[in-house]
Amino acid sequence: MKVLILGVNGFIGSHLAERILSTTDWEIRGHDLRTTNLKACLPHPRFTFRQNDMRQDREWIEQQVSECDVILPLVAVAQPKKYVEDPLFIFELDFEENLKIVRLCDRYGKRLVFPSTSEVYGMSQDPEFKEDESNLVLGPICKTRWIYSCSKQMLDRVIAAYGMQRGLRYTLFRPFNWLGPRLDDNTLASEGKSRVLTQFIYNMLQGLPIQLVGGGEQKRCFTDIDDGIGALMAILRNEGGVADGQIFNIGNPGNNFSIRELAETLKQVLATFPSFRDKALQATILDTPSATYYGEGYEDVEHRVPSIEKARRLLGWEPRTSLEDTLRKTISSMVSAGTPS
Ligand code: UGA
Repeated sequence: MKVLILGVNGFIGSHLAERILSTTDWEIRGHDLRTTNLKACLPHPRFTFRQNDMRQDREWIEQQVSECDVILPLVAVAQPKKYVEDPLFIFELDFEENLKIVRLCDRYGKRLVFPSTSEVYGMSQDPEFKEDESNLVLGPICKTRWIYSCSKQMLDRVIAAYGMQRGLRYTLFRPFNWLGPRLDDNTLASEGKSRVLTQFIYNMLQGLPIQLVGGGEQKRCFTDIDDGIGALMAILRNEGGVADGQIFNIGNPGNNFSIRELAETLKQVLATFPSFRDKALQATILDTPSATYYGEGYEDVEHRVPSIEKARRLLGWEPRTSLEDTLRKTISSMVSAGTPS
């Protein structure tokens, strides 16, 4: 099988590429702006890579779509601070550029595996979010945070419509706060713009306070990247066509913790690494109003628990990794990469 991964240097793309190369005989065509996460993949004989901006590489991408069996368009900005600050860019990249890929998949009759997001459920009050039942609840237009959710929701709907009306083969997967090594790069964290785990680690190691937005009682179901990739592999294998035309929540309801609990657990785990012990013990945790941290265009999700009944039933998938183990693995990889203590 030939797999095209656009955004292969990203968090999900690079972990997926490594798993494909180490456990299958599939061929990967990868595309990205950068190569920082691809050390293990670049030398591999079944990995072909092209470095460019996808917006300037239409011909190459079209050629690859026509030659590959399954297409994963993983290019997107996925940091809430960016949704608030630059909603137009989110629309242009996350929505418009991906729509072009969806259309290419339709034109060439290719299978599309597309990353939706837990963000599409927004502020739903359902105790568990169900892919085919839950309402998708977003705030007013002045809350620009929702442009990402709305862009992804629209793509979900367009892809489903292509499936219904034109026979596009597709699967949508919704990651719920996947964590692990290489989540975001440190440049983003240095600007205060990365996702929560990278930001917390960066702040602790720089001696900056951890900021709990809105008090930190909001919860997330933290999901280990290797568990997430396991689900994605089952989707790609697609035995008996089980994943065709389906949406899957990929999250770990057993790891439903508040952001305050994440900060405290991280502090404890970091303190078990001799080189980080002092920084961890000295770390301070402060409450910060969300308007100060993100700006007025922000609104938070207090509760976000996936139903994974469908992923269990159709993919035979079960998340297994505790939050502590994921944190330990993430920090170990920083130690191996030589992150200064
Ligand atoms: C994320 C992103 O939108 C996407 O990457 C993704 O689609 C989705 O969730 C997911 O992974 O399921 P969110 O969980 O809100 O959204 O983003 P984070 O930046 O990881 O923040 C999690 C929580 O921590 C938020 O409530 C945020 O306010 C809080 N936070 C963040 C802090 O308290 N302090 C910080 O320094 C950073």
